[in-house]
Amino acid sequence: MSGLDVRMFTVGPVQENAYIVRRDAAARRALLVDPGEEPERLLQAIGGLDVEIEAILITHCHFDHIGAVAPLARATGAPVYCPQIEAPLLRDIMVWTPPGFGPFQSWEPEHTLAGGERLGLAGLDIEVLFTPGHSPGHLTYAIAPAAEDAPADGGSAPTAGAGSPGDDELVPAVDAVALLSGDVLFQGSVGRTDLPGGDGAVLARSIAELVRRFAGETTIYPGGQGATIYPGHMGVTTVGRELQTNPFLADLRESAAVGR
Ligand SMILES: [Fe+2]
Repeated sequence: MSGLDVRMFTVGPVQENAYIVRRDAAARRALLVDPGEEPERLLQAIGGLDVEIEAILITHCHFDHIGAVAPLARATGAPVYCPQIEAPLLRDIMVWTPPGFGPFQSWEPEHTLAGGERLGLAGLDIEVLFTPGHSPGHLTYAIAPAAEDAPADGGSAPTAGAGSPGDDELVPAVDAVALLSGDVLFQGSVGRTDLPGGDGAVLARSIAELVRRFAGETTIYPGGQGATIYPGHMGVTTVGRELQTNPFLADLRESAAVGR
């Protein structure tokens, strides 16, 4: 269990999962992740929860994940964090939207991210991971409550040059982490790689890295589930469950068993 309050909203004709994430159910500050469609419904949810959106985070710029970014950025005033090499898709959204979807509005992101950054937003500690393969700039956000002794306002700018946490930094246990992982890893499946910029071998490497970092003790103690995955489609799962059961992770499962 992450201890975070994560609300899923499945939106639009492609049934994409948008999320509101906050430190706990009483927190007033929140993140909005991948608002893909149905901006009015998401705005109602934000009002219903009585939260202030401190940032809008995007995992990747396929239209079904970004269709409601512009109206929500405008309505909330929250800055948008976008994968750097996919920002052109957000800036000119209808060029990249298949016929029959939209219309959507373009947006100029306030921040771009390449992966490797560490963000402090809404009382949360957010590690930005580069997880390409489904799309070329795809990011996964590993989110945990910020340390209790952290400053009340963590600031909203990316930590310049931040990489892996140093030895003296408080690193959350993997089972306290929520992975907002877009279209990398699903219940029993993985992201498609047949769209422009997709690459199956690259996706496999991204998944292997998520497993290496976030499966925890799963392979040794099968009851452990590792980090919780909040994916861009379908239901919530865990890294541990997928490592144990996902047919696309059979090779990783075998090498984990060998390493026991
Ligand atoms: Fe996608």
